Amino acid sequence: MKRIGILTGGGDAPGLNAVIRAVTMSAVDAGYEVVGFLRGWAGILEKDYRVLTKDDVVDIHRQGGTILFSSRTNVAKIPNGLETVRKNLEELGIYCLVASGGEDTLGVAKKLGDAGGRVVGVPKTIDNDVNATDYTFGFDTAINRVMEALDRLHTTTAAHQRVMVVEIMGRHAGWMALHGGMAGGAHYIAIPEVPFSIEDICEIVKKRYERGDKYAIVAIAEGAEDPKLLSHVQHSAEKDAFGHVQLGTGRGIGEVVAEEIEERTGIETRHIVLGHLQRGGDPTAFDRVLGTRLGVKVVEMIECQQFGNMAALQGGEIVSVPLADAVGELKTVPPERYQVARRFFG
Ligand code: F6P
Repeated sequence: MKRIGILTGGGDAPGLNAVIRAVTMSAVDAGYEVVGFLRGWAGILEKDYRVLTKDDVVDIHRQGGTILFSSRTNVAKIPNGLETVRKNLEELGIYCLVASGGEDTLGVAKKLGDAGGRVVGVPKTIDNDVNATDYTFGFDTAINRVMEALDRLHTTTAAHQRVMVVEIMGRHAGWMALHGGMAGGAHYIAIPEVPFSIEDICEIVKKRYERGDKYAIVAIAEGAEDPKLLSHVQHSAEKDAFGHVQLGTGRGIGEVVAEEIEERTGIETRHIVLGHLQRGGDPTAFDRVLGTRLGVKVVEMIECQQFGNMAALQGGEIVSVPLADAVGELKTVPPERYQVARRFFG
């Protein structure tokens, strides 16, 4: 029996289990055996896997996380990594691999495809920063978490007439801060794509107090920067296998901005890092359905031998696009989208 392999790599995203369920059910119906590799690429390198049956995936689309676990293992950093992956896939009789991940995982998948491996991709990340797809699953759940957090923070912040700075995930792309902040009514939003100025924030805060709205919520992406404040931010020295600095630990931009606001305006200011609360928990209906549609599509793509491609959401339809269109460059927030949000600051 032909075997299809599946792995989930990088930071988990709500909706991954919907993909695993959809791939397993569709592939088994098409006559394949499904091999779930554990902990992303590490599972292939170490031949650590479990065979998935339809019974294993009943109803898992409703759960967050991933039943296959995840890791940030970077095959390119391991001596002979890509060769080992190819050899192990062949030894295990894997006809085609389904790699579900963000820019990093899909980048490895593309290299595997370029080296002659049969692979298809499924875009995943709460950051929504993968090109060639309108949205990635996990994003909708995450921005709903941000919105709910802001809704709660409005009442307590208003009660104490304070400023609250909310640090939101997003190192290079500000989609989560932008959409979560807009939905949750933040009075200022800062994203990595557009350098902010602390003076601008303080100005908006002061105006609110002057007109009698004596509290403010500032939504700030963890990767947002005011060049003047850069030296105040202290990230952990740890980097992951893809060379990304760990944000959300150490003294992040949210804490620095909160201190600056308090010092410059004299208004009591607190900060909160939403961190992994944004990624945890069960997916929204949108992410369950998107993950399911993508999972069904990749099995169709395998049947049509569209290797080296990725299933993507474009204009409401699920389409097959070359992995090359998705990786290499992150999908960041266009300036005009930020300007739309800016109209509601203050
Ligand atoms: O999944 C992407 C992401 O959520 C980034 O927004 C964030 O900086 C990073 O993951 C956190 O990763 P980790 O879970 O490894 O700390």
